[in-house]
Order: sequence, then C-alpha cells, then structure tokens
Amino acid sequence: MIVLGIESSCDETAAAVVDGGGVRSDVVSSQVDLHARWGGVVPEIASRAHLDRIGPVVRQALREAGIGLGSVEGVAVTCAPGLVGSLLVGVSYAKSLAFVRGLPLVGVHHLEGHLLAPFLSGGAPEFPFVALVVSGGHTALYRADGFGEYRTLGETRDDAAGEAFDKAAKLLGLPYPGGVVIDRLARGGDPAAVRFPRGMVGKGGLDFSFSGLKTALLQHVRTHGIPEGQGLADLCASYQEAIVDVLARKTLKAAERAGVGRIVLSGGVAANSRLRERMGRDGERHGLSVRLPEGRHCTDNAAMIAYAGRQRLVGGERHGLDLGVASTSSLERSIAPPPVA
Ligand code: KG4
Ligand code: ZN
Repeated sequence: MIVLGIESSCDETAAAVVDGGGVRSDVVSSQVDLHARWGGVVPEIASRAHLDRIGPVVRQALREAGIGLGSVEGVAVTCAPGLVGSLLVGVSYAKSLAFVRGLPLVGVHHLEGHLLAPFLSGGAPEFPFVALVVSGGHTALYRADGFGEYRTLGETRDDAAGEAFDKAAKLLGLPYPGGVVIDRLARGGDPAAVRFPRGMVGKGGLDFSFSGLKTALLQHVRTHGIPEGQGLADLCASYQEAIVDVLARKTLKAAERAGVGRIVLSGGVAANSRLRERMGRDGERHGLSVRLPEGRHCTDNAAMIAYAGRQRLVGGERHGLDLGVASTSSLERSIAPPPVA
C-alpha cells in the first residue's frame, strides 16, 4: 500500500510517501526562519505558513517518489497533539484529498510517529522495547509491545527536555531553536564545570522534571553573568550533561524494570550528540540494544507519520471526514480525537 503522510503539528510542513519497501520520499519545509526572531513558535504565523506551503510540499513529495496522485492508496495525517491551527491545516488538506480521490484516511498521533521513527531505516526493531520519546513538547518513556500497543512508564511533570534546551538557549542569548546550538557549543566544553541538579533522579520513579534545572541556570547567570568563549562552552556542556544524565539513567531504569532488552530513542532531542553517545555506551555496558533513528528522522517529519498511518491502514483502520484535531492527547489510547465543533 502506497501511503501519503502529512505532518503539520508545529513548525514543520512535511509530506512523505511510504510503501511496503520503505520511504520513497520525505520532504520537510522548516519554518525556523519565520519564528527565530520571536524566540519561539508563534502559532498564528505557523498556521499561515502551513497553508502557503502544504500544496507545494505534497506535490514535491509525490514528484520525488516518482508517482502521481493517482498512485496513492491511502492518506495519513497527524491529528494530535500539537498547535490546533497548525494541525487543522494538515487535517483539512488530507481530508479534501481523501474525499476527492476516494482514498482511505487515517489520523495519526504525533508521538506514535516519533516512537516508530526507528523503523524508517536500518531494519525494524523487534518488540517489545522501551522507547524514550524526547521532543520540544514531550518527554516520556513508553513500553511498546506491538504496533498500537503502548504503555506509559513515565513522563515529565513540567518542561519537556527540548523545552529545557530551548529555554536555556534563550536565557543565554543564543539563537532559536536552542537544542542544536547548545549541542554544538557543548562539544568544546567541560560537562563537569558546573554542577546542575538532576531532577527527580533519586526518587526512584520514571517521571522527569526539568523546571528546577532551568531555575538553577537562571540563578547561575544572575550570579556570574553570561560567560563568553570557553566559559560559555563549559556552561552549555554542563547544562546539557544534566539533561542527558537524567534521560539516560531513567531510560536504563525503565528497561531494567520492564525486563526488556531493547531501547529506542526518538524525537528532536534524540538528535543530541551527547545523548546518542551516552545511550550507546550505557547500552553496551548493560547488554542492551539501543536504536537511534537518523538525525533527520528524530526531528519532525512526515515519513514517520506515513509509516505509522500505513500500519493502521493496512490493519483496516479508517477515519471519516469528521476526523478532528486536539492540542493534547494521550498516546496510550492512541485513538483519533473527537471532531472539533
Ligand atoms: O521532535 P521535534 O522536531 O518537534 C516536536 O515534536 O517538539 O523536537 C524539537 C525539539 C526542540 O526543542 C529542539 O531544540 C530539540 O528538539 N533538538 C535538540 C537537538 N536537535 C533538536 N535538542 C538537543 N540537541 C539537539 N541536537
Ligand atoms: Zn515532534
């Protein structure tokens, strides 16, 4: 089954074509340039940009896959969670396409897309596995027993890991989005230069908290100012280390508790070089297999949505033209949200 996937939940307009053989095209139009001057995603600007870009992005995905619309056999679209105005652009577009062409339609949970991103290249991971999904909006640990069978093991009580990176970057006067900038600066820094708190790490549970870390950075900057050169690299490396340390320790603990020998990482923060290195090393040390998606499949893309949607379409799942969108939604239930009035 050839499936067209559409993703517009935040600030990337994306379309991809996936079939039984894998990813045939994967187009992402980033809006980073539009939001950078505001230091974060402005929902109204995002929806308007999605509206302008969705048509060209879908056409490019079909062209790069070497097919016409007539060859598409199903449409998958992110319907939750995300920015409502942004989600509506993708969902409305997908519905129109499905209606006009008489194609089956399925709404996909954005986090299911992230969770399945490691399936896009390098062979499918075996179930069961523990998944650490770390993005700008979400940070959670799941146990996956099969497609659509996900159980939450832990999640953040406040900020997401990506948010912790982005807020720190803003505080340090670094450009948006901050995660990748901190990652780059940290490469030349000493991760032990400043001791930042490891939120909830001693509590034994699998939930996360990153708001205390953000406050610790703010206090550090108030006392010492924003350093330059090596001092800035050390500060970034130390801050990053606090996030990575907590993510790695909790993920290992989750695998141990679940009695599962396989770990997969996904979401934008899974592109972080230090997290990848640390998880790889820890996995080896504990005899666990650790799968990391390619960097471009960690951040938002439509290939992961097409893949997750294709699993559901092949399994017979269909949504009607009353498919709605939702800003929040639990992955565990993983059902399409109710229609928006
Ligand atoms: O998955 P994603 O593209 O969008 C959401 O669903 O949120 O994740 C975006 C997040 C941002 O917070 C961004 O700063 C972070 O992922 N990110 C990184 C890196 N690349 C992206 N964080 C740390 N290191 C990176 N290399
Ligand atoms: Zn995402």
